[in-house]
Amino acid sequence: MSFGRMPIANGFLDPADVAHEYFFELSPAFCEPCGVIQLVEQPTPDRMFHGRYAFHSGTSRAMQAHFQKFATSTIEGPLHGRADPFVVEIGSNDGIMLRNFKARGIRHLGVEPSTNVADLAREQGIETVSDFFRRALAERIVSEHGRADTVLAANVMCHIADLHDVVAGIAHLLKPDGVLIFEDPYLGAMIEKTSYDQVYDEHVFMFSVTSVARAFAPHGLALMDVEEQPTHGGSMRYILAPAGTRPVSPSVAIWLAREKAQRLDRPETYERFRRNCERSRADLMRVLESMRDDGRRVVGYGATSKSTTVINYCGITLEHVAFIADTTPIKQGKLSPGAHIPVRPAEEFSKPYPDYALLFAWNHEAEIRGKERAFTASGGRFITYVPNVRVVS
Ligand code: SAH
Ligand code: TMP
Repeated sequence: MSFGRMPIANGFLDPADVAHEYFFELSPAFCEPCGVIQLVEQPTPDRMFHGRYAFHSGTSRAMQAHFQKFATSTIEGPLHGRADPFVVEIGSNDGIMLRNFKARGIRHLGVEPSTNVADLAREQGIETVSDFFRRALAERIVSEHGRADTVLAANVMCHIADLHDVVAGIAHLLKPDGVLIFEDPYLGAMIEKTSYDQVYDEHVFMFSVTSVARAFAPHGLALMDVEEQPTHGGSMRYILAPAGTRPVSPSVAIWLAREKAQRLDRPETYERFRRNCERSRADLMRVLESMRDDGRRVVGYGATSKSTTVINYCGITLEHVAFIADTTPIKQGKLSPGAHIPVRPAEEFSKPYPDYALLFAWNHEAEIRGKERAFTASGGRFITYVPNVRVVS
């Protein structure tokens, strides 16, 4: 299916750069033998990950708590009892995960090609190398630091088009009794909720338990356990290790069976998903157009990368949304990719409150509702679109 002409999802831009904005065709396809949803075309990594990368992991308190728990479960689980363990994280961003290892004095290395966020991590004393993870880099890490007890990755494995080179690198980097733990948005959740905004340039793959088991096995890494996560609107954590080194949890077979029952292996499932996306788009535009016609003021909440797909696929413009409020300094004062809706500091959301907030950061709904009680108490309402378009107080 095609979502049409799309800009870079995190490509928030200055007015002067509008004339050179880059576009590509956002078209996910289902690969039956692999079992993944995969982009047919992906912009080159240097267009997405560079010294002005706009996604800063630490902007959500809930994600800070999530990564603290992730780190603790790794320290008390696979790292327990190991002498001088070494942890490598791929896509370590501002250090949201690794700072928990640093605080416990554990040897660690982050791999983070976006230099602005890598610098934020280094400022906190987190060891970070600014480069793209690949097999050649894994070899360099092994020669400089030795092999890793654990390789971690969150919301990055699905970003890297040359998956087999990365997995070969991880297989080389891990100790024979090492463990790989990674998590990404989950295909089953996207299909169930019609959360099509998970599809954007960075997400070259949407993984499932089935597709991860298939992609990693040729490199000698077997799926040992899987754990569903509530983050990013529905994610899955995958725990892998060199085949035969650990017992396989019953969860793996349970999830494989569940995915068959959900018919994630059937092309018709994706035909239905496409129709559901089209319905969601029509429903959302009907709501926004009637609000515009009634002279209501709508403000976007959260200039998420996901919102770039929604805004450009649905055709949302300044006529529908006055501006987008966001807490990330690097996004503020910029224009949203493609539609060029201004992004303003979160504080402007209340000056004065709009009639409606279009909740682009729907995955952070609980955290946002917690801090915006005065908005709803004063009669403001949220517009959400996952799993259905609704206007709620
Ligand atoms: N792990 C963090 C950040 C996710 S965003 C979190 O879950 O919040 C993805 C990050 O991966 C970005 O910071 C990006 O610069 C980085 N990245 C992209 N390609 C990469 C690659 N090939 N190797 C390592 N990191 C990469
Ligand atoms: P994400 O959905 O990719 O995690 O991005 C969330 C975006 O929403 C990020 O730009 C920060 C912003 N945000 C706010 O503006 N206010 C909030 O309360 C939260 C949690 C996020």
